[in-house]
Amino acid sequence: MTLDHTTPPVTELVSLERGEIDRRIFSDPEIFEQELAQIFGRSWLFLCHESQIPKRGDFFEAPMGRDNVLVVRQRDGGIKALLNTCAHRGNAVCRAEEGNAKNFMCTYHGWTYDLAGNLIGVPGLSELYHDDLDKSANGLREVAQVDVFRGFVFGTLDPEAPPLHDFLGPTGRSGLEMIAGQGDMECVPGIQKFVIPCNWKFTVDNLFDWYHPQITHLSAFQTGLLPAEADRTGGRMKMEGVASSDGAALQLPGGVVSGDYGDQLVFIDNFGHATAGPTVDAFGDFQGLVDNSWRDTDEARERMGPVALRSLGHTNIFPTLWITPAFCQVSLRVPRGPEQTEIWWFTFAPREAPPERRTAIIQTAIHAFGPAGFLEQEDGENWAQSTLQTRGHASSRVPQLLKMNLKRGKVVHDSEGLDPPYIECSINEHGQLWTFHCWAAWLSGCGWDELRERTAPPDVL
Ligand code: FES
Ligand SMILES: [Fe+2]
Repeated sequence: MTLDHTTPPVTELVSLERGEIDRRIFSDPEIFEQELAQIFGRSWLFLCHESQIPKRGDFFEAPMGRDNVLVVRQRDGGIKALLNTCAHRGNAVCRAEEGNAKNFMCTYHGWTYDLAGNLIGVPGLSELYHDDLDKSANGLREVAQVDVFRGFVFGTLDPEAPPLHDFLGPTGRSGLEMIAGQGDMECVPGIQKFVIPCNWKFTVDNLFDWYHPQITHLSAFQTGLLPAEADRTGGRMKMEGVASSDGAALQLPGGVVSGDYGDQLVFIDNFGHATAGPTVDAFGDFQGLVDNSWRDTDEARERMGPVALRSLGHTNIFPTLWITPAFCQVSLRVPRGPEQTEIWWFTFAPREAPPERRTAIIQTAIHAFGPAGFLEQEDGENWAQSTLQTRGHASSRVPQLLKMNLKRGKVVHDSEGLDPPYIECSINEHGQLWTFHCWAAWLSGCGWDELRERTAPPDVL
């Protein structure tokens, strides 16, 4: 076998026709650098939740690719995001991950910045610089655009990026609504952060994957963390897992929704039950973790199309914000290197939640995902091995397969405009394949108009 060691052109990395992708995208350092520039350097990225920075001077440090930014509550109540790098020699001006500050003083030579990033203090300005330093031109650099949707703070480094509302589109907005709609939500203190030795795209691929739970998460079914049976309107459906020889028994009612710019929602129906969702009997003796009765309101119907309204599912806001409403959480997947991803979990609870419900939410946050989480330990092993085993010179030339239901996924374009395009089919690989197609469009570096065109779903996938 003759092996080509050059990085392949972007146009050859993803084939919608064959349902195949080039495995080198999971370990190639040049592709990783392109991702930082073309995707993380341009996209709207989740920074934090407003409830994390309620008071003047509150700050939270968030990653934007390799850039670290301080999201700061201003004196006037507004929010700014500032690059956490001193104008002098680049040192971080703040070492804490979150907190409250009156100003930010660099620990190297003592340059000091106010909450808005203005340079307000330079030791020896007269004696050493002879007052020949323009403080007004040397503040902390601001993130190009910052905006908030329903309490979720986003930023983009690209001044040309479309408004956040348009970028999210109905798919991204519905996904965030699945958390925000539950009430006056606040982020529970303590962001869980840990590193998995895997490429970030495996973590995204997996969140659309309803094919793996009955194998990967068998232990979660056996312990009762995930329900072995789920009520459905009109009867009972068994989730029989490996015991089932009938593929149809594994197919739950649901679908995959595609949004512009690569957002996706993959869901199973909420079974017509307001409180359907995971139970935590094994850990917290609590039924009905998530109260979905809010979905029966006019406001919810206005904010979400019919398809999103009936779904319990996973939304990915491109590139790496995963919303998992069944556990009241969102997760950031922070790319640290081609084979290293940092996972950040944010857990939410209604401000007025009774203590037992809050406890149940936190119990689940600890036991489902995160470093001690059943599900993520099982998933993480697979992601790490998938990364490790696809990077060899020979292994990397084996095509990665996303062929399930290929070209049989009929995309429904809602003529009334209430729903984004979707496919009725819960267990499929359309979500992943379309995400990789959108990823390739982003990587090409095309302009925003072309990007929107190239990420608008076709009629059949
Ligand atoms: S690097 Fe910040 S004061 Fe010198
Ligand atoms: Fe999983």
